[in-house]
Amino acid sequence: MTQTTPPLGRFGAYGGRYVPEALVAALEELDEHRAKAMADPSFVGELTELQRSYTGRPSIITRVRRFGDEHCGGAQVVLKREDLNHTGSHKINNVLGQALLTKRMGKTRVIAETGAGQHGVATATAAALMGLDCTVYMGRVDTERQALNVARMRLLGAEVVPVDHGSRTLKDAVNEAFRDWVANVAHTHYVLGTVTGPYPFPEMVRDFHRVIGVEARAQMLDEYGRLPDAVLACVGGGSNAMGIFHRFIDDSGVRLIGLEGGGDGPDSGRHAARFTGQAIPGVLHGAYTYVLQDEEGQTIESHSVSAGLDYPSVGPEHAFLRDSGRAEYYPVTDTEAMTAFEALSRTEGILPAIESAHAAAGAMKIGRELGPDALLLVNLSGRGDKDVHTAAKWFGLLDEGEAQG
Ligand SMILES: Cc1ncc(COP(=O)(O)O)c(C=O)c1O
Repeated sequence: MTQTTPPLGRFGAYGGRYVPEALVAALEELDEHRAKAMADPSFVGELTELQRSYTGRPSIITRVRRFGDEHCGGAQVVLKREDLNHTGSHKINNVLGQALLTKRMGKTRVIAETGAGQHGVATATAAALMGLDCTVYMGRVDTERQALNVARMRLLGAEVVPVDHGSRTLKDAVNEAFRDWVANVAHTHYVLGTVTGPYPFPEMVRDFHRVIGVEARAQMLDEYGRLPDAVLACVGGGSNAMGIFHRFIDDSGVRLIGLEGGGDGPDSGRHAARFTGQAIPGVLHGAYTYVLQDEEGQTIESHSVSAGLDYPSVGPEHAFLRDSGRAEYYPVTDTEAMTAFEALSRTEGILPAIESAHAAAGAMKIGRELGPDALLLVNLSGRGDKDVHTAAKWFGLLDEGEAQG
């Protein structure tokens, strides 16, 4: 299936650019610079070199035999190891691209929103590397559940601003980042962290993450002599999933499977399952896409044990892939994700980010359905260091005093 993107970034009915007048010129400037940069061998060369010598690309793939045998119905399960990137997640791929663009645009300051903190850490890292001022907005709830990443950002020289509005999670951090951007757009670039937001962000962020799928497809052919039966990835805004899916879209035999934060279950009212719960298309954060909302169009607060999946909206290209039937999306409950977190840790010595544990839980379900002949590729979007405290509390591994905070 080939898809062409019309000028204003529509994916079918989804996407577009719904922003205040003050940002239109900044988005046009960004679009012009990124189009020129992507066609400029010196930009592409600089980014490729940074990916190699700073991020550590290509990331390897790892066959997880015991996990597949014991938890996935004997299916062959292969992980794409984005957790091994510098700073510990896929987020660095996009941030290095946008930080280089910031310099090309002559801007001196970057801002970002972050949920799990990995995008904030990546942005603070790139800002340190490239000598840019950096402010990161983060919901108060997320600063508490991801305190380690708050400390990392501050050590890197970034200002972290806790947001006390609304649900005090990712959605509210995005609102604050947009407010800052409107006020400071002359010298500030907003390094948006996922494939949401107004055009050109969904397309640009996807293009910086495409490298994941380009590498993984070649690695699967090289090491297994065939394409996987399914590619699985967790979906918050959807950047790691778009990154690994995109190169496989034309391979009609490969199922593309996104796993959403199912929280307490899709019928519980406490979840982030945009495609399964009450979500209907609407506008949030500058794009027309699926949004969890009530009958009056008010955004409903999402819930997930994973800060990075706790978001009431999803990237517009996912909405298109879902409606066209090219990709499938399923909710994974908090309990299922934590079961997969433990299973992967115990059988393979790999502690996944809780976000990525949702993708591993998807492999457990699909593997059991398809059995030993199946070859599954799972995007391990990040490592679990930031989640050790949450997981230790979940499994009751800390004494009372140790479990505080
Ligand atoms: C490790 C990891 N995986 C996945 C996500 C979800 O974001 P996205 O859906 O854009 O990949 C996050 C977000 O913070 C993350 O830190």
